[in-house]
Amino acid sequence: MLTDQLRNIVERMPKAELHIHIEGSLEPELIFAMAQRNGVSLAYPSVEALRQAYAFTDLQSFLDIYYAGASVLLTEQDFYDMTAAYLARAHADNVRHAEIFFDPQTHTARGVPFETVINGISRACHDSPVSAQLIMCFLRHLSEEEAIATLEDAAPHRDKFIGVGLDSSEVGHPPEKFARVFDRARELGLHLVAHAGEEGPPAYIRNALDILNVERIDHGVRCLEDPLLVERLVREQVPLTVCPLSNIKLRVFDVMGKHNLRDLLDKGLVATVNSDDPAYFGGYVNDNYVAAFEALPLDASHAKQLAKNSFTAAFLEPEQKRAFLAEVESFFAQHP
Ligand code: ADE
Ligand code: ZN
Repeated sequence: MLTDQLRNIVERMPKAELHIHIEGSLEPELIFAMAQRNGVSLAYPSVEALRQAYAFTDLQSFLDIYYAGASVLLTEQDFYDMTAAYLARAHADNVRHAEIFFDPQTHTARGVPFETVINGISRACHDSPVSAQLIMCFLRHLSEEEAIATLEDAAPHRDKFIGVGLDSSEVGHPPEKFARVFDRARELGLHLVAHAGEEGPPAYIRNALDILNVERIDHGVRCLEDPLLVERLVREQVPLTVCPLSNIKLRVFDVMGKHNLRDLLDKGLVATVNSDDPAYFGGYVNDNYVAAFEALPLDASHAKQLAKNSFTAAFLEPEQKRAFLAEVESFFAQHP
C-alpha cells in the first residue's frame, strides 16, 4: 500500500535514471510543434489523435509509432529542446544523475548529420543542473555493418558519450549479431550495456554478458525464468535497469500487481527503476516508482535499496558515486 508518507519518500529521494531513450521523451505537444516549425507532415491530425494511437500490444507496435514520432527531429535546436525538456522533468523528480540513450541511426537514415544529433543532445546535458551522460544505442534490427559505420561516425565525438547500448526489436536479433562492434567499442574504452530479456529469452541475457561483455542489462526481467542465470547475476552484481510502466504498456506483464520487481530485489539482484520512454508509457521516473509501489508489497526499505542501486549501477567515478550514496543515506536518516 502506498501511504502519503511513502509516496513522499519515493518522489523526494535522490535518484539516478539509467534507462531513458531520449527520443522516447518527446511529448505529443512537442512532436506537433516541431512538425509545424520544420514543415514535416504527420499521419495524425491532432495531439489528441496521436495520444490515442499509444495503445500498444507489444514492443514492435510501440517502436513503429516511436520511430514515426522521431521523424520531426531535424535541427540541432530540436535535439536540444527535446533533451532540455526531459532534463527539466527529471530534475523535478529529484533525478541527480541520468545516463541517456540516443538512437543516431533513426536520424542519420533520414539524412540528419550525426553531429547535429549529438551536439544538440550533448549541449542540453551541459546546460542542465542534472549530471547527465550519453549512451549511444545501435538499432538491432539493422545490420552489424551499419552499427560499425555508426561507431565510426561517432569516433570524432568520443568525448561526448560514455558508452554504447543495443535497442529496438529484440526477438530474432540476438546479442551475438553485434559481437564485433561491441569488441570495437570496448577497445575505445566505452561502457557497454544492452537490452536483453525484455521480450527475448534468458539466453539473450547470458549472451549479452558472455559475448558482448556488457556491464549492465537493460530490462532483464525474464532472468527469473532461469535460476542459474539469477545466481550468476546476483554473484556478479550485474545491474538490471527495470522499467515498470513500459513492461505493462508493452505487455511483458499483464498488470503491475504481477510485475516481478519485488522478487528481483528479494533475490539480491541490483534492480533499478527507470522510465524507458516516458512520453509513450504514461510517466516519468517518479510515476514508475509510484505505480510499482502502489501495486506491489514495497516499503521504505525497498525505496532506499532502489535509490542506492541506481547510483551503485551508474557509470560514475568512485568519488561521485560515494557522494551520491551519502546523499541517499542522509535523506533516509531524515525520513526514517
Ligand atoms: N527503444 C526505445 N525503447 C525501447 C525498448 N523498451 N526496448 C527496445 N528498444 C527500445
Ligand atoms: Zn529501453
